[in-house]
Amino acid sequence: MKRVLIAGCGYVGSALAARLAADGFEVWGMRRSPDGLPAGVRPLAADLRDPATLAGLPAGLATVFYTAAADGGAEDEYRAAYVDGPRNLLAALAAQGQRPRRVIFTSSTSVYSQSGGEWVDEDSRAEPAGFRGRMMLEGESIVLGGPFPGVVLRLGGIYGPGRTSYIDRVRSGAAECPAITTYTNRIHRDDCAGALRHLMHLPSPHPVYLGVDRAPADSCDVLHWLAAALGKPAPLRAEEAVRPRSNKRCRSDRLASSGYTFLYPTYREGFAALL
Ligand SMILES: NC(=O)c1ccc[n+]([C@@H]2O[C@H](COP(=O)([O-])OP(=O)(O)OC[C@H]3O[C@@H](n4cnc5c(N)ncnc54)[C@H](OP(=O)(O)O)[C@@H]3O)[C@@H](O)[C@H]2O)c1
Repeated sequence: MKRVLIAGCGYVGSALAARLAADGFEVWGMRRSPDGLPAGVRPLAADLRDPATLAGLPAGLATVFYTAAADGGAEDEYRAAYVDGPRNLLAALAAQGQRPRRVIFTSSTSVYSQSGGEWVDEDSRAEPAGFRGRMMLEGESIVLGGPFPGVVLRLGGIYGPGRTSYIDRVRSGAAECPAITTYTNRIHRDDCAGALRHLMHLPSPHPVYLGVDRAPADSCDVLHWLAAALGKPAPLRAEEAVRPRSNKRCRSDRLASSGYTFLYPTYREGFAALL
């Protein structure tokens, strides 16, 4: 049976772990507190910031996923999760003589600083505006330049069961549209897991893929669609125009043309399933 490690087995990692366990893989879910992982997933307690805790990885790992997230928004927390973590894990794998055929790292669309509503794909300039994107990019290069074949999936905003901030804001009446058109990019949790599983099996993957659904959308369109679906008043546009930190349309053509079929190709299918 092929052995798989999911390092940082949280919201996305657990959905992936459950899927791969159902496929028949031996799946190890690593996090600092590994209680409550899905049935059939083997818990592994380790801290990616602490190399000593990585000494006892299960032998013979065929695929390694890195889906850990920062504990908070501070620079040291980002560095720990996206720079030190992957570096420590790759070093531990190499020290143990492991030879995974692929290491797959979840990054973020925050590596792009484009903010004028332009289209972005894997070939677009990735020059992060802040330390968060810079740390992600550094983590990507650690994995892509590391001792094992690496693949990066740059995810947009993740939503799904239990991650329903847009729905909650419309339901409570707190939602407000930005004063100007602001494009947002998202992906359902189950498409994150599905895309990661797809990249694990893809014969000759590119180094980098964008992991967003097929329809970047003006956040106001999303809020209005949700308001109509929930029978709530349409959120109004804010009066004061603030230049958005992020306003870009990410294109997932590379992932789609590699054969991945989205479960939720747009926010409409994804949110409809959650309502
Ligand atoms: N959320 C978004 O909208 C979004 C957007 C773009 C990209 N991403 C990326 O997508 C990936 C998956 O996100 P997610 O929402 O599934 O994250 P999540 O639910 O916060 O899960 C992250 C997991 O990592 C574990 N972890 C954190 N630090 C660790 C450490 N030092 N050692 C071992 N495990 C550690 C946490 O468990 P313990 O606390 O028990 O260790 C947690 O289970 C992340 O890489 C994230 O940066 C997320």
